[in-house]
Amino acid sequence: MCHAGSLHSRRGGTYVGGDYSIPVGMEADTHYKKNIQCIDCHLTGPKGMGDIQRKATCQDCHLEIEDAHSRSIHKDVQCSACHINELRGYQIVIWGPGKVAGKQNPFKKYSLYHGIQSPPLIIKDQKGKWIAVKVFPHALGNFKLDVKPSEGLQFRWKDGDIQDSYYIVGTESIGVNDKHLLWIEIQHASHPFGKGRTCESCHKEESQTSFSQWEFEDDQGTEKPFRGKYKIIAGRDGLKIKDMRNITPIFLSEDYKIEDFASWLYLKDKWKMPGDFSIKTDKIKYDKYQTLSKNIIRELKTLDRVITHKDKKTKRHYKTLRAIAMHNEDQAMELIKEFKSNLK
Ligand code: HEC
Ligand code: HEC
Ligand code: HEC
Ligand code: HEC
Repeated sequence: MCHAGSLHSRRGGTYVGGDYSIPVGMEADTHYKKNIQCIDCHLTGPKGMGDIQRKATCQDCHLEIEDAHSRSIHKDVQCSACHINELRGYQIVIWGPGKVAGKQNPFKKYSLYHGIQSPPLIIKDQKGKWIAVKVFPHALGNFKLDVKPSEGLQFRWKDGDIQDSYYIVGTESIGVNDKHLLWIEIQHASHPFGKGRTCESCHKEESQTSFSQWEFEDDQGTEKPFRGKYKIIAGRDGLKIKDMRNITPIFLSEDYKIEDFASWLYLKDKWKMPGDFSIKTDKIKYDKYQTLSKNIIRELKTLDRVITHKDKKTKRHYKTLRAIAMHNEDQAMELIKEFKSNLK
């Protein structure tokens, strides 16, 4: 819950939202609104309460959905990839000259570029499962050595249970503050779960686009906060940060230079990495499933009305049917037909 900052999308604060998010005001996780506790998903380890596990389990409550999903066209797309809609926290991190604990230091961290990234990009993890991630650029100035780019996306734990990754872009010169070491941080998003994303939000084009909007709120560097934005485009020919710019003026404080806290103004589109991040689907197959999905929703809408007059048990059955139908198009029509014939 505490120390959100750079790992914002990985912390419990994103479960609660509201005042615990940066910027404040994020909608809370659906489960939080239903009064479900951290330990309902994160089991406690051998040491008891203070030993909450990273891994989360959903089976206690969503067994039918997990089953339907595991046999659907989206079996390799994790729940979070469809059900997390926005990410907050740091959107840029820059190191440059500034004051640390009251003393001048070449490596002050300017990370209070607080903002919102939406929708999350999705990438394949170590095991080929699509997960929702937060992607944001980092640059460290006053660096002397040359560093080579990584060979593609690097998972921090190759075979581990944790899916955070990064890419080292390499070193760049902008004529000030020596060299700048650039990398892209890619964090697996944990919470908040909310409404499922639409088909088009992932399949409209083969490539993915996410939008980041932020405000620089550090008390060093500028007289007052300024706002800016960038896009992340991920497709067949790699992932890149594009159109990074401030949209309100920067009022520089005395004793600071732009490159100290905003070297991205010089580096802009340098953050890019190779790899295939496109979401490929056969056009004919997609059109078929999209039509099917529309028909399923139409059927469910009709049933939503019919069911209001039925008894508790039927309502409970219907809730399960609905949840399954939303997660397995191939099963849905058959189940709906069966349910309808039992209603009579
Ligand atoms: C609805 C289930 C659910 C609830 C409730 C929930 N979480 Fe999570 N949480 C998850 C999932 C799913 C992940 C991603 C797990 C993974 O990386 O394998 C996660 C990841 C995390 C992580 C990142 C762990 C890591 O590996 O770095 C933290 C920290 C965390 N949750 C804290 C909390 C806290 C604190 C609460 C309560 C305020 C909470 N969670 C409530 C589902 C839940
Ligand atoms: C203690 C029971 C419980 C656990 C454990 C649990 N959920 Fe849920 N979940 C619910 C309830 C209740 C809802 C509200 C909708 C409903 O009634 O089905 C819900 C809703 C959801 C939604 C829909 C969100 C929306 O706004 O449409 C998603 C997605 C979801 N859960 C995913 C998960 C995942 C992933 C896990 C495991 C990491 C998990 N849940 C664990 C009880 C639970
Ligand atoms: C391909 C996208 C996709 C994936 C993957 C996905 N969902 Fe959903 N889910 C949806 C959509 C769309 C809805 C309907 C809109 C909504 O209520 O959020 C939905 C609805 C739900 C609901 C609400 C059901 C209700 O009765 O209102 C729950 C609970 C849920 N999903 C849980 C899960 C769990 C758990 C997983 C992983 C095992 C998962 N979803 C994976 C797209 C997805
Ligand atoms: C969160 C993003 C996301 C959403 C939302 C989503 N999909 Fe997908 N879809 C994917 C990904 C990723 C794949 C590729 C899965 C794989 O690699 O196996 C895929 C695969 C597919 C496929 C091809 C499966 C195959 O076997 O070739 C079809 C068809 C499809 N989706 C249709 C839909 C329809 C229809 C919807 C809306 C009801 C939808 N998708 C919603 C991400 C998404």
